[in-house]
Amino acid sequence: MFGDYSTRGFKEYVKVAKGILEDNWTGSYTKPSPALYPHQWNWDSGFIAIGYAHYDQKKAQQEILSLFEHQWPNGMVPQIVFNPRALGNYFPEPDFWQAPDGRLTSGITMPPVHATACLHIYRKAKDKMLAKDFLKTMFPRLLASHQYFYRDRDPDHSGLVYIRHPWESGLDNSPAWDAPIGRIKLNKKKLPRYERKDLMHGVPAEQRPGDDEYDRYVYLVDLFRRLGYNEKEIYRDCPFLIQDILFNSILCRANRDLKDIGGILDEDIAQIHGWIETSSKAISQELWCSGCRKFESFDLAAGDHIHTATSASFMPLFAGAASEDQAEILYNTINSLSFCALHQGNCFTIPNYDMTKKDFDPKNYWRGPVWINVNWMISQGLKNYGYQEKADDMKQDIIQLPIRFGFHEYFDSHTGKGYGSSGFSWTAALFINLVSEYYDKDKNSLPWLKQRVFYKTKKKKILNKLSESRGNSSEDVSSRLMTSIGDLKDKFYDLNRGRIDYAAMKASSKYVRYLEIAARLQAFDPALLSTSSQKKAFWINLYNTIIVHGVVELGIVSSVREVPHFFADIAYQVGKFTFTADEIEHGILRANARPPYNPFHMFKKNDPRRKLSLQGIDPRIHFALVCGSRSCPPIRFYDADHMDEQLDSAAGNFINSSEVIILPEQNKIFLSQIFDWYKKDFGGRDNIFDYLLKYLNEDKESEYLRQNIDRIKIEYLFYDWNLNH
Ligand code: DGY
Repeated sequence: MFGDYSTRGFKEYVKVAKGILEDNWTGSYTKPSPALYPHQWNWDSGFIAIGYAHYDQKKAQQEILSLFEHQWPNGMVPQIVFNPRALGNYFPEPDFWQAPDGRLTSGITMPPVHATACLHIYRKAKDKMLAKDFLKTMFPRLLASHQYFYRDRDPDHSGLVYIRHPWESGLDNSPAWDAPIGRIKLNKKKLPRYERKDLMHGVPAEQRPGDDEYDRYVYLVDLFRRLGYNEKEIYRDCPFLIQDILFNSILCRANRDLKDIGGILDEDIAQIHGWIETSSKAISQELWCSGCRKFESFDLAAGDHIHTATSASFMPLFAGAASEDQAEILYNTINSLSFCALHQGNCFTIPNYDMTKKDFDPKNYWRGPVWINVNWMISQGLKNYGYQEKADDMKQDIIQLPIRFGFHEYFDSHTGKGYGSSGFSWTAALFINLVSEYYDKDKNSLPWLKQRVFYKTKKKKILNKLSESRGNSSEDVSSRLMTSIGDLKDKFYDLNRGRIDYAAMKASSKYVRYLEIAARLQAFDPALLSTSSQKKAFWINLYNTIIVHGVVELGIVSSVREVPHFFADIAYQVGKFTFTADEIEHGILRANARPPYNPFHMFKKNDPRRKLSLQGIDPRIHFALVCGSRSCPPIRFYDADHMDEQLDSAAGNFINSSEVIILPEQNKIFLSQIFDWYKKDFGGRDNIFDYLLKYLNEDKESEYLRQNIDRIKIEYLFYDWNLNH
């Protein structure tokens, strides 16, 4: 396996994303989009600040400070802060809201992502002193906003706060709100006159909420202003009171982040601790519908859960409030045809609503499309619960959607087409966040790479050296070893999550048994393997196992890079010879071809192991060799009798995974770095295309490749060296 520093393909898009934020910057905050949303929005600013944190600390801080300057005396952070110089293009504006004391804000709030954003700003900050001062300013304000929620929005001290307007959920016309807003008895004659402005900016009506929904939004605003924004009276009279799963999950996560901020500042965090406990317990117990096996919002007015299946139900993963069992159920639902299963054809990451429902609408606002912020939060949650492969897959979709279809407000889950406003700020900001985190991860690649290329192994760590190795039946040991690997695989390899439970494996009797058999390789003569299939199966399996064995024995915690020369260090003794992982890969399986960027062949001229090298390179082996990292192919067990089919299937799986991203609109493809490092094995650029064409499932993508072979630009993806555990 090999490391490289060549992933720079995303740079031009980061530039575009920064340009969007620059264009939407007003001098003190960033508009969500150029025309449709001309003021400052509450949770938009949180996500926008997360993007700025990677390259402009001051703007990140300013974004949040500017919003909180308009915090109400009761602690509520308003949903919109109006820009007096931009009035007249949006509805409803201050004249309609009539917020107390003539405030230029709306009279409702939004999901509180700000503690999370502030902690992120601090963590990314180059100027830590400045960031700490910023946290000092923000801590009491954030605390006051959380106190507001638990004091005014949770009158029964349930640990769950209510929202009182669909706009507070952030998911305005989610199908989950159909029943509760449908219950509002409208008297059209009594409804204040108003004019929608959201349809004046070029976004087609089919992508926005309907007039009937707007009437109900207006009804609620009118109710609040008639009640003078008195929360007790609103609680008494409001027909829309929901303990929203998304809102409460974000608040729960924000409690955790606020606690960490308090810790950094040495503040008293006892009250925050209490919120974390009660809010996570309440989410896990009260918002879980065991019959339906999902999290659901609770409709206080109806006294029942809302059973509609939207992506909001996955948010307890972000909160860290779901139990392991609940998380597993959520993962299975996410990874189903309703919400875009892993490697499902024609599908980009999680849509906002169950795709199998009749009223699923891929174009309409919160009634079907993919939203970047919700996906960003869910992918973080999945990662925290260990569902790394799915989380990474989602992140790659989040990155590729704006690249392919533009920095839109929302996207079609089937076609990727962008809808709503273009030049959308949080799409740009979260794109910057994801790409920057990959670059950060990549930064240490170069020194690591150099060390590796010029390293001469002084002391190999021979892993299969038990003191005594009984038995000497050569044929027997090969097949037993394979059976034992198969046993380990069945028990400890989770193909669903693409990971291995290294700790449990090390403690198991199966592993002890494996060590015993591996030790017998010392008495095995690999020259006995006669056919090419037998050789391939034996050495691929051995390579894959030595890697797992190495990770376990060297106590690697998060990446094989913790051991500088991992692949050159770990070795097995097979018969008279020792073989490092590198020697198996390059010396045997790659027919003693030079490792990439290395002037020397693996086995020198008179090395007796040369006789064991395969004759010629089958590039499909690159889809079969694992390397203890997330970007390598998943582990499978190979057997000589089915070698060809198995290698074909490994190639098919890899080429149809997120390691190959085809961007017809950009005339570009992003490929795993495996294709770059081993270009020669594949026979150069044209043959790489042949491989792609041979294995791609999607007819449309194959057709595009076929017709554009000479014009397509290839760029390479980042390589994730984190451990696949
Ligand atoms: C809108 O105006 O569509 C916003 O979503 C309200 O926050």
